[in-house]
Amino acid sequence: MSPSFLVFFFSNSIFVLSLFSSTIHAHRCTQDFLFETHSRNLTLCKRYKHRNGVEFGWKVENTTTNILKVLVGARLDSKTGWLAWGLNLGPEPRMVGTQALIGIKQTNGSFLGNTYNVTQYIKIGCNLLPTPIDLNVTNLIFGRLGHIQYHTIEATIYLPQTVNISRINHVWQVGKVAIGMEPKIHEKTIRNYDSTETIDLQTGTSISIRSARRHQARVAHGIFSIIGWGTILPIGVIIARYFKKGPIHWNEHDQWKHAHKTCQACGYILGATGWVIGIWLGNYSKYYSFPKHGAYGICIFTFATLQTLALRLKPHTNDELRTYWSMYHLSLGYALLIVICVNIFKGIKILQEEETWKPTYIAIISSIVFIFFVFEITNWIKHKVDQLTTSKQIS
Ligand code: HEM
Ligand SMILES: *[C@@H]1O[C@H](CO)[C@@H](O)[C@H](O)[C@H]1NC(C)=O
Ligand SMILES: *[C@@H]1O[C@H](CO)[C@@H](O)[C@H](O)[C@H]1NC(C)=O
Ligand SMILES: *[C@@H]1O[C@H](CO)[C@@H](O)[C@H](O)[C@H]1NC(C)=O
Repeated sequence: MSPSFLVFFFSNSIFVLSLFSSTIHAHRCTQDFLFETHSRNLTLCKRYKHRNGVEFGWKVENTTTNILKVLVGARLDSKTGWLAWGLNLGPEPRMVGTQALIGIKQTNGSFLGNTYNVTQYIKIGCNLLPTPIDLNVTNLIFGRLGHIQYHTIEATIYLPQTVNISRINHVWQVGKVAIGMEPKIHEKTIRNYDSTETIDLQTGTSISIRSARRHQARVAHGIFSIIGWGTILPIGVIIARYFKKGPIHWNEHDQWKHAHKTCQACGYILGATGWVIGIWLGNYSKYYSFPKHGAYGICIFTFATLQTLALRLKPHTNDELRTYWSMYHLSLGYALLIVICVNIFKGIKILQEEETWKPTYIAIISSIVFIFFVFEITNWIKHKVDQLTTSKQIS
């Protein structure tokens, strides 16, 4: 392996590590919200930074009678909107089955609320209307913290004795559309899907480690895919195309071939690692899915595997099949690069990292395309010059 490759990998791994450490959840509430929780004698507070930005302050008043006091707050920036928080006393932290408190921002600006039972019929499109719920709720207040532009839900809940406060499922959500007292469906993004947690109310720790790791797993999935499929594979293609016959000559001892193989092997290993993480993420999210992104991902993995296997199944140099094999290997390779590019953009959109990741990836792609063009034009000019000189010699 040449030194430039080592430098390349070294810098990439540092990039991966730094992104890993920077995305570990910071659960500290904002100063203003913390102040509000303290003034209500609530002792614990959590901010779901990567999940809607909802803040949740609470206190278990009395561990034997299970009295829970909560303050939930979030910004509702659109003209109408709603903020929901609730408990799901079923086995899983999920939307269906949540006994919810929902506050709705009306068109005239007032914030009105009620209790709602989110059943499976809501998920398939039935109207969500106020009903009494299976929780004993008192002191229910739907309020506004004008200075930080938060809408809040405040309540005291007498939990049933059967509930284990060290393992309770809570669910929250924000939506933009509401008509009267009827909240309409929320957006369908990762942040909306992630807005559940199994929590130990006595300490505030998340019980479901797997779900807490989900965000990091997604970031890792994205970085591995972008570096493996999206950067190293196309560089390998450039090496195979332009380092063999020119403009750069790297063919004395077949160096181009070794470099190409090394690139494609490294790209494949990184990409496949990302893909495995992606499959894990897909299996984990039982209640939602991103079918198109997943289907493209499976195609990419399958065809990249075929391309890698091609190294072993290549016909001998003099074989007539060799031409067909080359055509197949090339066309599949280029098609693969396009699908990879499309799917990376899809992934960035799903991850809602358009402001930071998109420009980075566009920079990578445009550098690669730029190099392609420069080499292609150099080759073309060289070809023309050669033609001219040979025709002059003939005349
Ligand atoms: C207003 C009516 C609502 C409708 C029509 C609705 C519809 C949906 C649908 C269709 C999904 C799944 C998307 C997919 O599979 O791709 C979903 C997921 C989800 N919704 Fe809602 N929703 C509504 C209200 C709520 C409320 C009030 C909450 C919170 C209390 C909530 C919390 C969630 C959560 C946490 C998920 C993630 C998956 C899960 O936990 O089941 N939704 N919603
Ligand atoms: C908070 O606790 C203090 C001291 O125990 C008490 O005087 C005060 O009334 C409490 N405030 C609220 C909002 O419960
Ligand atoms: C706003 O409209 C709701 C009904 O949608 C009404 O109950 C409430 O009193 C109104 N608030 C103001 C400030 O006009
Ligand atoms: C409550 O949940 C915690 C955490 O999972 C567990 O350690 C504890 O045994 C449970 N307590 C009861 C009474 O089920």
